[in-house]
Amino acid sequence: MRYRVAILHGVNLDTLGRRDPAQYGSLTLSELEARVRGFAHELELDPSFFQSNHEGEFCEELHAAPGYCDAVVLNPGAWTHYSWAIRDALEVSGLPAVEVHLSAVDEREEWRRVSVIRELAFGSVQGKGVDGYREALVLVRDQLAEATG
Ligand code: DQA
Repeated sequence: MRYRVAILHGVNLDTLGRRDPAQYGSLTLSELEARVRGFAHELELDPSFFQSNHEGEFCEELHAAPGYCDAVVLNPGAWTHYSWAIRDALEVSGLPAVEVHLSAVDEREEWRRVSVIRELAFGSVQGKGVDGYREALVLVRDQLAEATG
């Protein structure tokens, strides 16, 4: 059976393609998702995608996630830096998680260097653009393979 991975995007990630390309690249979210789908299939993973600009909706997606996936790759956007609600919802999900950021958040403004979800994630990838999602999916595949034997 293929491992199912949910790729979850948070606030403002729907504006990719219009945001600062020096930080976030020039792909739109649907182009990025198409690339990530390709990576997932190459790695024999079964991907699903979700994006929301509403924090409560994002939390509800995390609550529902154990019903439809084995792990999550999440880029919560700016929520990463302050949303204890999303941190708690991720903990409730109990799912293995990798945090991804297109930009190198640890090398940008002071406030972006804080991640309230990092302690719950077994992996964190940043500053590698869309290729960072491939790296995250490899981490997920290896972790699930190890956990399930
Ligand atoms: C981001 C980095 C965040 O600081 C920012 O608020 C985003 C995108 C990234 O992918 O680099 O919206 O998560």
